[in-house]
Amino acid sequence: MKIAIGSDHNGYEFKEKIKAFITEELGYEVEDFGCHSCDSTDYPSVSFEVAEKIAHKVYDRGILICGTGLGVAIAANKYKGIRAATTHDVYSAERAIASNNAQIITMGAQVIGIESGKKIVKAYLGLNFDESRSGKKVQMIIDKEESLN
Ligand code: RB5
Repeated sequence: MKIAIGSDHNGYEFKEKIKAFITEELGYEVEDFGCHSCDSTDYPSVSFEVAEKIAHKVYDRGILICGTGLGVAIAANKYKGIRAATTHDVYSAERAIASNNAQIITMGAQVIGIESGKKIVKAYLGLNFDESRSGKKVQMIIDKEESLN
C-alpha cells in the first residue's frame, strides 16, 4: 500500500511522528508532501497536492493533518472522487475505510495526542472497504457527484 501524507505548520510535528510510525512500525511506504518545517503553510496547498495524487490513484491512501483536521478535509473533498474524513477516534477511523471507503483521513494536531493518532492510523490502514455491505451507499455518493458535474 502506498501512502501520501501532508500537513500544515500546525500539524508538522505530529505529521513527522506519524510518518515515522507508518514506516518503522507498520512497514508501509510513505511519501511526504510537506510541509517540511514549522514555518507557516497554507493548509489548502498541501491538501490539494495529496488529494490530486490520490484522485489519480498514484497513492492508495492519504493522511492529512492540520490544527483541527477540518480545513485539510474540506479542501481535499473539493477533488472529484475524493472522500476525506476527519477521524479523532479509532472507531471512526475503522468506519471511514470499511463503510465510507474514505481514501483520506484527516486529524487535528491541536485536538488529539500523538498516541491516539498512531492508533487511529493503524486502525485505518489495517482495514479495507467492505464492498458487500457498503458498496451501494458509496456508489450513491459517486453517482450524485457525477450528476452534479
Ligand atoms: C491554521 O491555519 C488552522 O486554520 C489550520 O491548522 C487548520 O486547523 C484549519 O482547519
